[in-house]
Amino acid sequence: MDHERFPQASEATPSSLSVSVEDPVYQRLRGVIPEIEWAIHSPLIERIDRLKKQRNAVILAHNYQTPEIFHGVADFTGDSLALARIGAETEADVIVLCGVHFMAETAKILSPEKTVILPDPEAGCSLASSISADDVRRVRDRHPGVPVVTYVNTSAAVKAESDVCCTSANAVEVVESLGSDRVIFLPDEYLGDYVARQTKVEIIRWEGHCEVHERFTADELREYRQQHPGIQVLAHPECPYAVLREADFVGSTSGMIRHLENSRPERAVLVTECSMSDNVAVELPEIEFVRPCNLCPHMKLITLPKIVQALEHLEPSVEVPAQVAKGAREALQRMLEVGRGERS
Ligand code: 13P
Ligand code: SF4
Repeated sequence: MDHERFPQASEATPSSLSVSVEDPVYQRLRGVIPEIEWAIHSPLIERIDRLKKQRNAVILAHNYQTPEIFHGVADFTGDSLALARIGAETEADVIVLCGVHFMAETAKILSPEKTVILPDPEAGCSLASSISADDVRRVRDRHPGVPVVTYVNTSAAVKAESDVCCTSANAVEVVESLGSDRVIFLPDEYLGDYVARQTKVEIIRWEGHCEVHERFTADELREYRQQHPGIQVLAHPECPYAVLREADFVGSTSGMIRHLENSRPERAVLVTECSMSDNVAVELPEIEFVRPCNLCPHMKLITLPKIVQALEHLEPSVEVPAQVAKGAREALQRMLEVGRGERS
């Protein structure tokens, strides 16, 4: 195993700075990463590239990862649905999941033979911690015979108690695929509100919230419009409905990116996690982004030095007990069957 030490911030020299800023990767990122930071990231990125080859590893990064991860080292990027699909299909031996715990668990459940690593095991999610497997059993008991749809932002144990999973990209489609006039939708209350307004199916909700999206307010969105006439407002359906009502477009993180690619507004605001705007600005530099900054503290636990460590030691790996994995896999596979072939 290669244990070469990676340079620390204090070791970045003027010559390494001048060399590294000519890197074509940096040429794309200079609008979102200052030169002085690139001097720290660049050697780590090179090291990660070498380790990926040695380990036959792929790096999957969620759209909320910082630009040096998203554009610097990721082999595949996307929303939760895309990462689940890619994780299930990759031929690599090792998956490094740059996202949060439920995403790494999903990858492990769908690819049990692979080593799946989450570079910081503390990267959780307020939605996932809002509900337990016991809670799901209790809700089922209160509504006998009503199918349970569970957002992927949950633990494997919760998924195992569910009939089918969904993401924000396919929630309405999954709910309608069940052919039931009532559905228990867990655990995101606001995504449940949004789904309820798109379908005739009665939606029984839970009071879980995303700590990032629940902070946005309708007043804030009205202010963006006042201050920036003509701005396009795109919001994630984990926001409260009062916020979504003020938006021009509502969709998953990849849905927002696709909408921008198609509509190419002059100015836009993404009502979601901070890093999204940086990542999209690299691809669509002609759009001016107004940037509210609500950070997901869990996503931000993933850093380049932790990815280096993870690839060197193949830890911390994610394991899911076989019995739990079996139930969770069924719920995930039912989701992947719905709308198969569509872009997320
Ligand atoms: P999507 O990327 O699936 O839209 O999910 C957003 C999110 O909050 C993931 O944690
Ligand atoms: Fe969870 Fe919200 Fe962070 Fe996504 S952004 S991981 S839903 S806390």
